[in-house]
Amino acid sequence: MKSVLITGCSSGFGLEIARYFLDRDWNVIATMRTSREDVLPLSPRLRVLALDVTKAQSIREAVEAAGPIDVLVNNAGIGVLGALEGMSMDTVRDVFETNTLGTIALTQAVLPQFRQRQSGVVVNVTSSVTLRALPLLAVYSASKAAVNAFTESLAYELAPFNVRACVVLPGRAPDTRFGENAQQRMEGSIPEPYAGLGQRVFEQWAQSTAITRSQDVAEAVWRAATDAAAPARIVAGEDALALAGAQ
Ligand SMILES: NC(=O)c1ccc[n+]([C@@H]2O[C@H](COP(=O)([O-])OP(=O)(O)OC[C@H]3O[C@@H](n4cnc5c(N)ncnc54)[C@H](OP(=O)(O)O)[C@@H]3O)[C@@H](O)[C@H]2O)c1
Repeated sequence: MKSVLITGCSSGFGLEIARYFLDRDWNVIATMRTSREDVLPLSPRLRVLALDVTKAQSIREAVEAAGPIDVLVNNAGIGVLGALEGMSMDTVRDVFETNTLGTIALTQAVLPQFRQRQSGVVVNVTSSVTLRALPLLAVYSASKAAVNAFTESLAYELAPFNVRACVVLPGRAPDTRFGENAQQRMEGSIPEPYAGLGQRVFEQWAQSTAITRSQDVAEAVWRAATDAAAPARIVAGEDALALAGAQ
């Protein structure tokens, strides 16, 4: 029976990915920064571990407690929307610490076991904003584009050891806690000279009917994890697929 370790399982995509793998008889190590175990279904194949991807000790403890795993899904992430002028460097650092450095640090901690066993898959959840730039998302997009580049290079580095690395690029998913959480980091991040631009971005989102469902992301992660012939980049969600098709 195979095992997957997933980050950010307290809500949204991470929770759905955990359910998806459980339904397919995998052992799931669902990790979360804030304990919300009650959101997950009861299963003898489920273990919940604490993991804050920005903390080195938390990474060490979680990887040790998890034991051998076959697939790592770096899903934990935070969003931020705002004009660069209105954003504090603390916020910029938080976004990179979680989305970029957290992904890199946890991958580094898991790789020795993959290399020694000559098998394993790293699946990194990035974003369709890396397919086409949008205003007010410079910092978030940069944090995710860095993970795309990191994963692409890593895939070549790990191929001789039969270890794969892929990215999943979801589109906008209004049914997760992502938007609500990002709003909490938005205080003052759209100063007056950028207000019109901010309004246009929100109007565009309100009008667009194509969205990404958490299920689309879980399916894409499953494919990345289980299909050795899967592409190194998998786009997930109707809106993201439309963007990718237009390229
Ligand atoms: N929703 C979208 O429109 C969208 C689109 C493209 C890509 N994405 C990406 O998809 C991933 C999942 O987002 P989501 O939409 O499911 O949002 P979500 O519902 O807010 O879930 C994000 C998860 O990441 C966790 N997290 C945040 N910081 C963490 C840290 N330092 N250590 C460990 N876990 C941490 C959160 O935990 P807490 O409960 O503790 O905060 C939560 O479980 C993210 O990487 C996001 O960038 C989202």
